[in-house]
Amino acid sequence: MRTTIIYATSHGTSEKVANLIKEKHKNCETTLFNLKEGKTIDLSLYDNIIIGGSIHAGSIQNSVKEFCNKNLVDLLQKRVALYVCAMNEPEFESELKNAFPELLYNHAYVKEVVGGEFLFDKMNFIEKMLVRNISGIKETTSKINHSKIDLFS
Ligand SMILES: Cc1cc2nc3c(=O)[nH]c(=O)nc-3n(C[C@H](O)[C@H](O)[C@H](O)COP(=O)(O)O)c2cc1C
Repeated sequence: MRTTIIYATSHGTSEKVANLIKEKHKNCETTLFNLKEGKTIDLSLYDNIIIGGSIHAGSIQNSVKEFCNKNLVDLLQKRVALYVCAMNEPEFESELKNAFPELLYNHAYVKEVVGGEFLFDKMNFIEKMLVRNISGIKETTSKINHSKIDLFS
């Protein structure tokens, strides 16, 4: 079984999660694909496709949305799993649902919010101010949910 993990990341956490999922797929060939480095991937090479990104101001990265919409027909013929990184727990369910096209969301065999991180050293001034004011969190915090990541193995 060949697997690809296609992701977008703003501060590195979705990439960290992609690597954690890859480690769990030790007995099958797994490649990582950062949407920032290119948007064309030959999906016919893969049996399993895992797509992930992170929520900022309520939405997933545009590159993830565009990728899913552009490849929707092909993705619906594959085993697909979806993840998002996010920190605002009361909104997790709606953030996850809104992140992906409805058909793809319903088709996916796993779809999870895997938690996230606030990495203050990676944020610009405005991001730091927003995160401090909205969440009340003032220092680097990691809330990656490893039991959710296990569901992707
Ligand atoms: C400026 C900013 C806005 C964010 N907005 C949201 C949000 O609306 N909802 C949420 O659940 N998490 C929000 N987060 C938390 C991110 O989803 C979390 O930091 C995630 O781990 C980022 O992953 P990345 O490094 O792969 O981009 C926000 C984080 C930042 C820095």
